[in-house]
Amino acid sequence: MVDMARHHDLACLVRLQEAAVEAERAFSPDLVPRRIDPLASRRSFKATLLRGQRERTFVARVGRQVIGMLCVELHRARSRHAAVRRHGFMHSLYVAPAHRRQRVAARLVARGLVWSRRQGALQVRLEMAAGNAGARRLYERLGFRPREVFFTLDLRRPA
Ligand SMILES: CC(C)(COP(=O)(O)OP(=O)(O)OC[C@H]1O[C@@H](n2cnc3c(N)ncnc32)[C@H](O)[C@@H]1OP(=O)(O)O)[C@@H](O)C(=O)NCCC(=O)NCCS
Repeated sequence: MVDMARHHDLACLVRLQEAAVEAERAFSPDLVPRRIDPLASRRSFKATLLRGQRERTFVARVGRQVIGMLCVELHRARSRHAAVRRHGFMHSLYVAPAHRRQRVAARLVARGLVWSRRQGALQVRLEMAAGNAGARRLYERLGFRPREVFFTLDLRRPA
């Protein structure tokens, strides 16, 4: 079952967020913080949950257990000439390993898309590690397509 996160989910969200950062670090060790501060993470989820219209955290549950999450933010373009005035931005998608390949992530993303559309978003965007083949396949199956590529060059190594 997928629904909106509640206050009593805070501790689970912090744990899943830690695991999500850990998973991301495996693909981009230089772009992801070495550790996250659980108190800051809790504060940020609390703000998200309370902020209402602009951000949502969705969770997947099995009984009382939270086994997956997805955060969606609503962004408004500053310029009124922007081609897309409102878009949703998805991040922190994570499903606990024991529950993977059961379409939990697909359901979370579908829910995030419905919410974004209802908020007037014309597009949904996200960023992901280039090497994360599973996530890429998931998003592409849902209709997402890569639009821009983010390059890095490590200046610590001799050219
Ligand atoms: C990526 C992740 C969210 C997928 O969650 P999931 O619940 O297992 O995904 P779903 O079952 O909804 O997958 C739907 C489809 O996406 C594709 N997919 C998902 N995971 C895949 C994998 N590891 N390898 C290949 N394809 C995959 C498949 O096409 C799958 O359909 P299928 O099982 O019928 O073949 C999960 O593996 C995860 O939490 N990984 C760590 C965090 C992460 O990488 N988050 C994404 C950051 S952008």
